Amino acid sequence: MPDWSRILPDADHRWTMGLRPGDAAEFFRPRDATGEVLRERRRWLADEPEKYVVATPECESCVDDSLAVAKSLGFALPNSDLKDLPTRAMVLGCAWESDFVWLLPDDGGTYHVVGGIVCFPSSWALTDKVGLPIGDVHAPVPGLNSALGRQIDTFLAKLEPGAAWTRENWSLSRSDERNQHTSRPRLPFDDSITADDVWIRLEHQLLLRLRPSSGVLFGIRIELVPLVEIRQDAEAARRLARALKTMSQEAAEYKILAPARERLIALL
Ligand code: HEM
Repeated sequence: MPDWSRILPDADHRWTMGLRPGDAAEFFRPRDATGEVLRERRRWLADEPEKYVVATPECESCVDDSLAVAKSLGFALPNSDLKDLPTRAMVLGCAWESDFVWLLPDDGGTYHVVGGIVCFPSSWALTDKVGLPIGDVHAPVPGLNSALGRQIDTFLAKLEPGAAWTRENWSLSRSDERNQHTSRPRLPFDDSITADDVWIRLEHQLLLRLRPSSGVLFGIRIELVPLVEIRQDAEAARRLARALKTMSQEAAEYKILAPARERLIALL
C-alpha cells in the first residue's frame, strides 16, 4: 500500500515540492514479478519509438552516465559500448521498468529537457517537452510556476552528485492503462462514474545528479491504485476528498476532473 499519509497531506490542496532523500537502487528495483511491465514497454518501444524515445546528440553524456548508474545498480545490460546513441538509450529503456528524462543546464544554469524514454506518460508527450526549460515544461499546470518555479530551479542547481531525491504526484484516471500518451484517447470524468471506474495514478519520481555530465536523471514510476482500495483506508479517503474539495477550479480542470468533482467526493 502506498504511504497515503505522506502522499496526501492533511491539508487543503496546493502544489508542493514534497521532496525527501531517496535511493536510486530502491527506485529502479524491479517490482513486477510477472514481467508484464517490461514486455509492454518493449512493445511500445518496438512499435512506435518516435513517440516514446528522444535521444539527440545533446544527451549523449547523460545516456552514458545513466548506463553506468544502471550497471552500478546491478542491472545486467547487453554490451552497448560501441553501439549508436539511440541503441544505447534503448538498452536502458528495455532494462528499467521506470520511465526517465534527462535534463542539462544551459549557459545561464537553467535546466532544460534533452531526452529520455517515456512510455507511460500521464497525459503528456516527451516529444512536446524536449528542448524546453523546466518552467515551460510545467506551463500547463495552473499556478505551479508561481508557487514552485523558483524552488524547482534552485533545487536542480544545488542537487549534489550521488544524492537521490524522491517525490510523488497523484492524479485520477478513468483508465488503468499505463500508457496515457496524449495521442491516446483520454476518458473524461462525468456524473456517471462509479468507484470501479476510477484509479489513483501515482507517479513516483526520482531526481539524481549524473556525473561527469552534470545532467539530471529524472525517473518516473507509475503505480495504479483502484479508488475502491483507498476507500478501505478511511483517513486516506478523507484526505483525498479534502484535496478534491479544496482544489482550485483551474487545477481541477487541468486534472480533467472538474465535471465530476462532487461525484468523486461522494464516492470517497
Ligand atoms: C523537483 C521538482 C519538481 C516538482 C516539485 C514538480 C511538480 C509537478 C507537479 C505538482 C505537477 C502537476 C501534476 C499533477 O498534480 O497533476 C507536475 C507536472 C509535470 N511535471 Fe513536474 N515537478 C518537478 C520536476 C519535474 C521534472 C524534472 C520534469 C522533467 C521533465 C517534470 C515534468 C513534468 C511534466 C511533463 C508534468 C505534466 C505537465 C503537463 O501536463 O504537460 N517535472 N510537476
